[in-house]
Amino acid sequence: MGYEVWGLVRGQANPRVRHLRKLLGDVRLIRGDLLDQGSLIAAVERVQPDEVYNLAAISYVPLSWQQAELTGEVTGLGVLRVLEAIRVCSGISASRSPGSGQIRFYQASTSEMFGQASQVPQNEQTSFHPRSPYGVAKVYGHFLTQNYRESYGMFAVSGIMFNHESPRRGAEFVTRKVSLGVAKIKLGYERQLRLGNLSASRDWGFAGDYVRAMYLMLAQDAPADYVIGTGVTHSVEKLVDTAFRAAGLNWRDHVVTDAAFIRPAEVDRLCADPAKARDELGWEPKIGFEELIEMMVDADLELLAATDGSAGEEFATDSW
Ligand code: GDD
Repeated sequence: MGYEVWGLVRGQANPRVRHLRKLLGDVRLIRGDLLDQGSLIAAVERVQPDEVYNLAAISYVPLSWQQAELTGEVTGLGVLRVLEAIRVCSGISASRSPGSGQIRFYQASTSEMFGQASQVPQNEQTSFHPRSPYGVAKVYGHFLTQNYRESYGMFAVSGIMFNHESPRRGAEFVTRKVSLGVAKIKLGYERQLRLGNLSASRDWGFAGDYVRAMYLMLAQDAPADYVIGTGVTHSVEKLVDTAFRAAGLNWRDHVVTDAAFIRPAEVDRLCADPAKARDELGWEPKIGFEELIEMMVDADLELLAATDGSAGEEFATDSW
């Protein structure tokens, strides 16, 4: 789309940088950390962006119970620091509004904010009842983004994104854990796949479709928040069935439920009502559930064949 893209990279000798370079050779990288206000101000000053997309977070829900304070710092207060960096670098204050060429800000909000949802499906008006320290931190980031829009007139928006997946998904999340597990079983590297709650339901879509929605949100004349999801929900069991079938296997021969993967509090059922995004952004998902899962299983069969079955091993022992 003609964008010059910069990515923020944290830490010393971050091992993900090599991986990133392989996948996205033309993305320019700059150092910075959501825990360090000065580094974010320096990054905004250096890059002079037209748009800032904040997808950085501790995003694995189970980790947020084990590191609840850090989740609050990164996933919650990190949003404040990014907004402050934009505000300070743009010279915006309570008495000085942004000009026409202002930096536009996108915050990755989440359906986990709905948590124990008060209605099905969930739309922009549905109240929040988060069920994890992660969900609580995201609610803070969501309201803060709204608040900077209202307080300073900034073009700051939140996409309330439901689960979005692809072959690049981390192996700790259930879709990729299952697609990798299926591929390992199919190729004879494993016999079993250990999972937690099979009855939870999620609205799973393709990440590429959701990134298009993020872009569209920043391309509007006026800032607003949008729910982004497919409007179709499936249980984890259905996901498992679809993935095993895609490889010609029966999940009942291989899946074992393991209490180690049950969460202290679960989000039972999420389903999006994306009507506002459809009407105002003209957004619709192009890839459906079955196609998505088959794409992930095929990609992992190919990956494992090329790596002698070792891909994703670093996550194999993760419990909840
Ligand atoms: N990860 C995982 N591992 N989840 C399992 C397992 C397992 O072995 N077994 C069952 N599940 C169930 C979880 O209990 C949950 O109900 C569901 O599978 C989905 O879990 P995840 O894939 O870990 O995703 P999530 O829904 O908790 O959160 C993801 O989506 C959110 C958007 O709604 C993450 O990407 C969040 O960062 C994101 O905000």
